[in-house]
Amino acid sequence: MDYVHTPVLAEPALQHLIPDPAHPYMIDCTLGEGGHSALFLEAYPFLNVIGLDRDETIMAKAVSRLGGFGDRFTAVNTWFDAFLETYEGPAPSVILFDLGISIFHYVESHRGFSFSKSERLDMRLDASARTDAFHIVNTYSEQDLSRIIFLYGEEKYARRIARAICISRSEGEIVFSDQLASIIYHAVPANYRFQRIHPATRTFQALRIEVNGELERIVPSLHRAIDILAPGGYLGVISFHSLEDRPVKHLLKEREKGCICPPRAPICTCGKTSDISIITKKPITADEAECEANPPSRSAKLRVARKKGGENDV
Ligand SMILES: C[S@@+](CC[C@H](N)C(=O)[O-])C[C@H]1O[C@@H](n2cnc3c(N)ncnc32)[C@H](O)[C@@H]1O
Repeated sequence: MDYVHTPVLAEPALQHLIPDPAHPYMIDCTLGEGGHSALFLEAYPFLNVIGLDRDETIMAKAVSRLGGFGDRFTAVNTWFDAFLETYEGPAPSVILFDLGISIFHYVESHRGFSFSKSERLDMRLDASARTDAFHIVNTYSEQDLSRIIFLYGEEKYARRIARAICISRSEGEIVFSDQLASIIYHAVPANYRFQRIHPATRTFQALRIEVNGELERIVPSLHRAIDILAPGGYLGVISFHSLEDRPVKHLLKEREKGCICPPRAPICTCGKTSDISIITKKPITADEAECEANPPSRSAKLRVARKKGGENDV
């Protein structure tokens, strides 16, 4: 089987997320084609990996890739927030999130993630979900379209794009990804059409985030991940844009800080304690060689935190 996704920041992830033989479990919350999981399973013969992915098509690729590891690997077709919320299994010593979607989704899924292909606007990771990108593009009000394109795409021409979508759909449904890309292309000012990225990039990102509820799943999942980690265990989060990275950074700081009482309060009344140490004071990014070999890694940031209570804690 061919694998189209190259795992990003694989070396730094292996260097910083060190499984503990006393807690020989890792949860790979974003299994994808299983690239990261394969590396960890190969590097640590004692390790068992539970891999999660809501997309059953890509998960099937990972299951086939990792079948040779026998019962050291288990795949679960689920949203990571839903899984972690009810997880009662053994405490893992590594939890990894590699957020967003895979190259697989752009090149092989046929679900309209790519503006350079002519595919039905779908963008669902969960094939049973009711709302797809077609529904959003063809039924959301102009105001709601503008809001999501601005918020989830950080697109400065969100209003113009939303207006153009509404005008176009009044003449007939917008069905295909290249059709939408062309509407966006013609909606933005001429000089915006020739920037580093295609003018539809941000709108497509926004639609994908809205379809899959991507952002709202991050914070509860990270809190829960820290709660279930074994003492001394590692949490790694790879993000690809500031909408993902910002909440990760704030949450890690909050969990590291502990007490949030006002500085002049005579005693602590909030009861919060610091339960992690941030290992990466600045996020790890891809070096030149990796950026060259695997262009999606250019925007990747890895943040790592360690749960307190491990043997070597001071
Ligand atoms: C960036 S890819 C992971 C690539 C993987 N690390 C590899 O090396 O092949 C992210 C994967 O997570 C899945 N995904 C994204 N958000 C998810 C969520 N909230 N719950 C479960 N799976 C999710 C996507 O379907 C996608 O396959």
